[in-house]
Parts: sequence; C-alpha cells; structure tokens
Amino acid sequence: MIPVRRALAVLAGLTMVGTLTTTAHAAEPAPTPALGWNSWNTFGCDINEQLIRDTADSMVSSGMAAAGYEYVVIDDCWFDPQRAADGSLRAHPERFPSGIKALADYVHAKGLKFGIYQVPTELTCAQRGGAYPGATGSLGHEAQDAQTFADWGVDYLKYDWCSPEGTLEDQIAGFTLMRDALHATGRDILYSINANSYHPDKNGAKYDWSNIADQWRTTEDIKPVWRTGNPNTYPMGVTDIIDVTEPLREWAGPGHWNDPDMLEVGVYDVEGFPGLTDTEAAAHFSMWAMLAAPMIAGNDLRSIPDGVHGILTNRAVLAVNQDPKGVAADRVRDDGDLEVWARPLAGGDVAVALFNRSDKTAKISTTAKEVGAKGSRHRVTDLWTGKKWLSHGTISAEVPSHGVTLLRLKR
Ligand code: GLA
Repeated sequence: MIPVRRALAVLAGLTMVGTLTTTAHAAEPAPTPALGWNSWNTFGCDINEQLIRDTADSMVSSGMAAAGYEYVVIDDCWFDPQRAADGSLRAHPERFPSGIKALADYVHAKGLKFGIYQVPTELTCAQRGGAYPGATGSLGHEAQDAQTFADWGVDYLKYDWCSPEGTLEDQIAGFTLMRDALHATGRDILYSINANSYHPDKNGAKYDWSNIADQWRTTEDIKPVWRTGNPNTYPMGVTDIIDVTEPLREWAGPGHWNDPDMLEVGVYDVEGFPGLTDTEAAAHFSMWAMLAAPMIAGNDLRSIPDGVHGILTNRAVLAVNQDPKGVAADRVRDDGDLEVWARPLAGGDVAVALFNRSDKTAKISTTAKEVGAKGSRHRVTDLWTGKKWLSHGTISAEVPSHGVTLLRLKR
C-alpha cells in the first residue's frame, strides 16, 4: 500500500497545474447555503435504507421540505467494507440491500436530493477510528468513484479528509482531484469538504477553499453542547465554532460557503452531552442563519418535538439564511458575553442578532448606525416572536441566557 503522504504528494504534482485553470463548477449547485439532513449527528454508523427512506418521507410530511430543506445525506458507514472485483464501491449488503441507486431514486421521487459520504484518503473516519471495517477511501479510485456516484444519481458529496497525514498542498490536491472528477461526470453534484478530521492542522479554517468546493468545514466536529472551551479541536460546542468561523466571513458568498458543521437542533444524548435547551438550539439556528451557513439538520426526523419543529421550520429565519445577497454576518460589537451581529440582506434590509452568552438574562442595545442600516426610522420584526415595532435609531431587547434575539430591520 502506498503511504498516504507519498501518494498525495504524487497527486499534488499531477494536479496543481490543473487547479489554476479549472473553475469549480460549470453550474452552481449552491447559490444559497444548502438545506438538508444528514445521518451522522444522531445515528452515527447505525444506519440502513429504511431509516433513510423514512427520513425522506418525514422531510416531506413534517413540512421541512416545503420550508426549503432539500438534501437527504447518508454519512459514513453506508458501504460494503470490500470494493467489488473491478474496484467499484458497493452498498453494505445487509444495511442497504436494495442498493444506493434505488435509494437515490426513492429520495428523488419525493422531490428531494440525495447525498453520500466518502474520503480522499484510504480510510473513512469510522474506519480510521476502528468503528467500521475495511479501507474503502477514494485514494486511487477518484474517477471511478465519482462516476459511480453520478450513475447512482448522487446530488451531494461530503468528502472528509479523515487522516492525520498530508500537508496543506496534499489536501488541496486531493480535494481538487475529486472536484475535477465530479465535474468530469457532467452531473451537478454539490461538493462539501472537510480538511479537519483527524488532521492536526485544521486547515479548514486556514485556507480559502472557495475555488475547490461549494462548502467547506471550518472546524472539528460539533456536539450538542453550548461550549466546550476547545480551540479548533474535537469536540466543539456551538459557541466555540462561532468563534473560529467569524473571522472567515469574507470567504463566504453565493456558490461557496463556510460550513460550521451540521445542526444539533433536536439532537440529544451524544457522547455524554445531554443536548441543547430549546433557547440554545434557537440561538444556534439563528447564528447559523447569520453566518450564511449550510443548515443540515441532524435530528431524528421521524419524530420531531414541537419546539424543535418550530425552530427548524421558522421561515423568517430560513429567509435570512437563504438571502440571495449571500453576505455572512459581521460581529459589530463584542462586549464579552454580550454581542451584536449584523448581516446585510438583499434590498437593504439588515438582520441583527443580539447574542447573550452569559448565564443571566441581559438587555442588549444597538443602533441602526452600528448595524449598518441606512436611515433613521426602521420597522423591526423579531423573527422568533413575530412582534413588530418602529425604531428611531435605537434597538434593544431583553435576551435570555444562552439566547439570541434575531431581528430584521426594514427601512
Ligand atoms: C468526521 C466528520 C463527521 C462525520 C464523521 C463520520 O468526524 O467530521 O461529520 O462525517 O467523520 O465518521
């Protein structure tokens, strides 16, 4: 077996010239951030085709599809630990007995799109960690795997580094190789990458990946917790991720998005973390909307508690996330635990997040000027309560502990 580092160095030599001249995509699969669901945060490796079909059904019957959610993505552990004799990938024979093409067809018949998971190295993260057998990564099989995905009707590929080896240049080469392989299939496949998993350098936050991918992870993995205090190391809480992602805002824009990882709204009891409160979950959802982040739900869609449903399908908040201007929010004031964030929207509206990280309710105030809203009179809407009022320059609210008051200002 060729060591990963050497194999990638060879690939780097072969592909760097191409990188300079090839554009990311002929079409634009992600003019606004992707909305969807992924199996990992709740189910980990415990997945099968019935779960994915039921999830697609629920995405429609719960009203999530009508609210804009589109992608149903299977994460790690979907594949047969052995490739076929011709080297091609196959579905796990017991968990996905009907095969991936049939599953993608099922998802498509619901009016949804279908996504899948693979890695540019030798081992998927579950294989690297010993939770799943085999060594079925795409290294050396890039064109073959891309074609398999296109033939199956895949619309979204999550491509996850999952190795401690490789320089930044190796990672750029490996991710570029699959970008070009996907492009060569002629199918429009949203390309979602992660340079951080198992890698000590956490290059997701150190390099502008916008010419390579439609979305790229900025941090290590999220867990359902408000804060771990970790810098960019496993595991991350909601606020840890916000702090790493905020300085990267200029990398985000239509067709290319910072990905602060999938949603933990409605995800409970994972690796000793009990889960977010509804207030924290709404704050998490609000901030992902402000960051112009992909919103990939991670909860069990087969039974969604009312509070969680209300968060995930809040159309006014989703409209901020999906705003066509595609500018990520700026932290315009940071008073320690109390912060003000502003996101300019198409047509001159401004979204404002009053963010309380403290353990007490607090009044947070800002001004139209501070958030970049033109004019002196604004109609303000609280996007969680629906309450509206007129502001003459000053905007303030009582914000609960670990909460966000999310406002939309209209001139
Ligand atoms: C990494 C990724 C996760 C998930 C797992 C699967 O940790 O960051 O989102 O895909 O791999 O093993």
